[in-house]
Amino acid sequence: MDTIIETKDLIKRYGKFQAVNGVSLEVPAGSIYGFVGPNGAGKTTTMRMLTTLTRPTSGEARVAGHSVVQEPRAVRRAIGYMPDEFGVYDDMRVWEYLDFFAACYDIPEGNRKKLIEDLLELVDLTHRRDDMVDKLSRGMKQRLSLARTLAHDPAVLILDEPASGLDPRARVEIRELLVELARMGKTIFFSSHILADVSEICTHIGIIEGGQIVAQGSMNGMRAQLMPHREIMVTVKDNETAEKVKSLVNSGIQGVVNSEILEPKGGRSRVRIDFTGDDDGVAAINQKIAAEGIMILGFSEETKDLEAMFMRVTKGLVT
Ligand SMILES: Nc1ncnc2c1ncn2[C@@H]1O[C@H](COP(=O)(O)OP(=O)(O)OP(=O)(O)O)[C@@H](O)[C@H]1O
Ligand SMILES: [Mg+2]
Repeated sequence: MDTIIETKDLIKRYGKFQAVNGVSLEVPAGSIYGFVGPNGAGKTTTMRMLTTLTRPTSGEARVAGHSVVQEPRAVRRAIGYMPDEFGVYDDMRVWEYLDFFAACYDIPEGNRKKLIEDLLELVDLTHRRDDMVDKLSRGMKQRLSLARTLAHDPAVLILDEPASGLDPRARVEIRELLVELARMGKTIFFSSHILADVSEICTHIGIIEGGQIVAQGSMNGMRAQLMPHREIMVTVKDNETAEKVKSLVNSGIQGVVNSEILEPKGGRSRVRIDFTGDDDGVAAINQKIAAEGIMILGFSEETKDLEAMFMRVTKGLVT
């Protein structure tokens, strides 16, 4: 995969204070990249450098092949930016808001009507087209803001906390929208301090703390790297079957450290497998059990381990 956002030793200093302290990022084209870190970690500052709003103190940053310092105009054409604040837009209707930003991007008047209809459809705001912007709910404002970033059809979306302050339902809607945009071929680089937002939809993740990247990579690679021990639970009908599963997985499946039979739950027997491997390994265990003709009633990984993985590399994240 090509790298569409790349930074090298990016530094931003405010006086003596170093807000971003040597950040090197690689965001593959087409990825949904979650940029995670606690308050004050340097997420917004990094994004403002990528969007050419703030000049780096030193280091390099390229977006879609263009340097943010040498070719800021080309960078701006390639990106859609959603800031962490919506801003104040009194006396503007929803469609006027989009019309205004489309005009800012030099989209000819004749093309704007269709564009606005399409964008409103995409973010599910067609029915609010003529409402005043400041009357919208926060979730709707976030969706409108997202629509605005798409006006000039950029390849890269840089979204600063797109789900912040939203209720669970609105968060899910934003997540679904991001997945939809990725399907349309956009690269999505978004920040969050909410782990669930990130882990559910991201293909890649970078964790920043105190202005420095503490871990970065594909979700799968990160799991293997940071979460050496995974816990897989196999549910079967009785203890005899559980014994079979246990001896099978203990007979030399790569990555299986241990397995044990747990107390039955709801009349079913369970085997817990302590495993160090990637998702292919998990699938291999499943297949091996199935190939023996053993009936599997449940096969799952304890998802709380994913949070444990984040907690291990960064303390203080809101979970
Ligand atoms: N213009 C500025 N002048 C001085 N310090 C700043 C400025 N902008 C940001 N900072 C400081 O830089 C650090 C990083 O801030 P930044 O806004 O990038 O963090 P963040 O990860 O986006 O946090 P949050 O999750 O709260 O949005 C903070 O300590 C902040 O106070
Ligand atoms: Mg921020």
